Amino acid sequence: MRHLLKAGLRRLAAVPAASPRYQAGTRRATVIAVAARKGGVGKTTTSVSLAAALARFHGQKVLLIDLDPQGHVNTALRAQVGPSEKPISSVLLDERGAEILDCVVPTAIPNLDVTGLDLGLAATEDLMGTRIGKEVLLRDALKITRTHYDTIVIDCPPNLGNLSVNGLVAADQVLIPCDPSPLSLKGVTSLIDTITTISNRLNPDIDLLGILLTRVDGRNVTVNEAIVKEIEETYGTALLPMRIGVSTDLSKAQMEGRDVFAYDQGCRGAMAYRELAEWVAEA
Ligand SMILES: Nc1ncnc2c1ncn2[C@@H]1O[C@H](COP(=O)(O)OP(=O)(O)OP(=O)(O)O)[C@@H](O)[C@H]1O
Ligand SMILES: [Mg+2]
Repeated sequence: MRHLLKAGLRRLAAVPAASPRYQAGTRRATVIAVAARKGGVGKTTTSVSLAAALARFHGQKVLLIDLDPQGHVNTALRAQVGPSEKPISSVLLDERGAEILDCVVPTAIPNLDVTGLDLGLAATEDLMGTRIGKEVLLRDALKITRTHYDTIVIDCPPNLGNLSVNGLVAADQVLIPCDPSPLSLKGVTSLIDTITTISNRLNPDIDLLGILLTRVDGRNVTVNEAIVKEIEETYGTALLPMRIGVSTDLSKAQMEGRDVFAYDQGCRGAMAYRELAEWVAEA
């Protein structure tokens, strides 16, 4: 009966299912959402540098998803990424089961693909709210896509809207960049509450990859130590062992539109993110 009903629904459905245009691959990506409730803490810098390091130094096939309407991933890599034919918005809003593979573009970095610049993503965020299953649109659009990659990194926007929730629901792990400031710390607490709710309601498999201290200015010893102490006391070993120091080379690489490893493999920012990638690859 159940089978008949499904067949009947299929016949009557106004929107036909998309034909499976992609063959399933042989991989099963770990999806890492890079998220924080505070702006400017290094989410994009971390997403780009981690994705590039995993692709360059660990032989992984990596997809970097630009889920922020600001399009900063594409700005940061503009010298290494060509134009995309299809925006991620059209995939997220497609009712027929479109795949993120539709909007993927290769980069000049071996093994790294990204989703292209999408200026319509801000408007899409509102439209997503009108869709049934609005929180699982990205997860569904990764079903086949994730079988073609080893790691998928999602650069989330700073606000907790439909896009960020989609990023978290699609994620296996969340990486939280946090600069050493009381406001960032507050944002970590609030995000971990959200992740707990998402784990209870929508994505029981979600896990915390860790809290990454970013933009650490070695001159502010007292504040840095106080923040580290508080994170360690509250979240224990969730604080990752490596620190990302303030490094103007990271900004300079972004100004040139290239990943930091193409800019200068030996600079402090590059070394710090390489250490993060090693830790992630072994986790
Ligand atoms: N470790 C660092 N050292 C120096 N500058 C940095 C560092 N990390 C990030 N920046 C700079 O700080 C600014 C904000 O970084 P980034 O865009 O990565 O933050 P974000 O959290 O993604 O911001 P948003 O919330 O707007 O998406 C950028 O100009 C970037 O170049
Ligand atoms: Mg950003």
